[in-house]
Amino acid sequence: MQSRLMGSIEEGKAPSPPIRPSPTPAPARPLPLRLVQVILMCFVVGLGISIISMHAMKFLSMKYIAPIAPSIIQACFQDALSIESLVRPPAELSHSMNDTELLWRASFDPRMKEYPFKRVPKVAFMFLTKGPLPLAPFWEKFFEGGPSEHYSIYVHSHPAYVANFTPSSVFYKRQIPSQPAEWGMMSMCEAERRLLGNALLDFSNEWFVLLSEACIPLQNFTVVYYYLSRSNYSFMSSYDDPGPYGRGRYDGNMAPVVTLNQWRKGSQWFEVNRMLAINIVGDITYYPKFRDFCVPGCYVDEHYFPTMLTIQTPHLLANRTLTWTDWSRGGAHPATFGKQDITEEFLKKILESETCTYNDQQVSLCFLFARKFAPSALEPLLDLAPKVLGF
Ligand SMILES: *[C@@H]1O[C@H](CO)[C@@H](O)[C@H](O)[C@H]1NC(C)=O
Ligand SMILES: *[C@@H]1O[C@H](CO)[C@@H](O)[C@H](O)[C@H]1NC(C)=O
Ligand SMILES: *[C@@H]1O[C@H](CO)[C@@H](O)[C@H](O)[C@H]1NC(C)=O
Ligand SMILES: *[C@@H]1O[C@H](CO)[C@@H](O)[C@H](O)[C@H]1NC(C)=O
Repeated sequence: MQSRLMGSIEEGKAPSPPIRPSPTPAPARPLPLRLVQVILMCFVVGLGISIISMHAMKFLSMKYIAPIAPSIIQACFQDALSIESLVRPPAELSHSMNDTELLWRASFDPRMKEYPFKRVPKVAFMFLTKGPLPLAPFWEKFFEGGPSEHYSIYVHSHPAYVANFTPSSVFYKRQIPSQPAEWGMMSMCEAERRLLGNALLDFSNEWFVLLSEACIPLQNFTVVYYYLSRSNYSFMSSYDDPGPYGRGRYDGNMAPVVTLNQWRKGSQWFEVNRMLAINIVGDITYYPKFRDFCVPGCYVDEHYFPTMLTIQTPHLLANRTLTWTDWSRGGAHPATFGKQDITEEFLKKILESETCTYNDQQVSLCFLFARKFAPSALEPLLDLAPKVLGF
C-alpha cells in the first residue's frame, strides 16, 4: 500500500488518472536551480556581446564612416573634446541663431595665429541674390577647376525663395538663413554681415568674396586662388569723392566717430581677408552711426565698410575692387550684358581694360570677376570660356 503510494508520487503524473482535477491551478513550485543558472548565464553573455559590439561599431565607424560623414559620428558618440571637433566646420548651414548670436559667435578670433593642425586656407564665395542663380552652370564649370578643400560657397537669397539645386551641384544646401535685403538700405549691409558671419564659422575660410547673381568669373580657379592668397591687401574699393554722391552724403551727426575727412565711398562688391571680416561682423562702433545717419539719399552699402575699414586698417586695403563694372552709360545702375553682347572681342576688352597695382607693382591683371550679366549671357559664356577665359 505504502509502496504504491510512493510510486505514484515519484512517477508524478500517472498515465491516466481516474479523475482529472480540472481548473484548480497547480501549486507554484520554486524554479529548479539549474534553470536559474542558465538564465543568469544567458544574461551575462548577452550583456558581454552588446558591450563588445558597441565598441566594435564605434571603432568601425571611426575608421570607415568618419572620413565620409564626420557629423554622423559626432552625433552618435559624444567624444572627449579634441582639436578636430573644435575646428570642424558645421555640417549643416542651417542654424537657429539670430543675427546678434551669429555675429557674436563669428567674431571669435584666435590670439595665436599659428594653427596647431593642418589648415588649408579657403576662399569663401558669398552670393548675395534676390532669388535664383541663373549663371550657376557657368560657376559650376569654374569650380570644376578648384579642389574642394580650397573653397566654400554661401548663398543669401530672399527668405521666400526656395533653391532647388540637385545634390551634384556645388550650390546644393549652401543657402544660409536669410532676411529680406533692400538695395541701398542697412538691410543690405546686414545681409552682407550675415554672409560673413556664416562663412566665418568655418575656421578654414581665409578670404571672403562678395558676389551677386549677375557676376561671372573672368579667370580660372587656379588664378583666382593664387591672386587672392598672394595679395598683401584686401580688395575693398575705397576713395574720397568730393562730389554730391560722395561727401555730399555725409551727415555731421556721425562726428566724432566718423568725420567728413574720413568719409569714403566704394563698390559694394568686395574681397576681405579673415581679419577684416571679423572686424566687420564685430563692429559695434560704426554700425549705429551708419544705421541712424546714412539713410535714403545715402546708399549705406557704398559707404559703411569702405569708411570703417579705412579708419581702422587703411594699410591693409588695396582701395580697388576685383569686379569689373561698366558705368560708362551713366545713371544709378551699371550696364547689363546679354546674349548679343558676349563675343570674344568683348571679353578680351574687359580683360585688357586697364592696369592697376598689385602688391605695389603695376600689373595688367586687375579683375577676377565682372558684372552685370543677364541670364541670356549664359550660353555664349559657356562657349567662349575655354578659349578666352581659360576654364
Ligand atoms: C537675439 O536673441 C537675443 C536673446 O534672446 C536677444 O537679446 C537679441 O536682441 C536678439 N537679436 C535679434 C537681432 O533679434
Ligand atoms: C607683399 O607681397 C610680396 C609678394 O607676395 C612680398 O614679397 C612682400 O614681402 C609683401 N610685403 C609686405 C609689406 O607684406
Ligand atoms: C589705401 O588708402 C589708404 C588711405 O585711404 C592708404 O593709407 C593706403 O596706403 C592705400 N592702399 C594702397 C595699397 O595704396
Ligand atoms: C588657368 O589660366 C591660366 C592663365 O590663363 C593658365 O596659364 C592656366 O594653365 C590655367 N589653369 C588651368 C588649370 O586651366
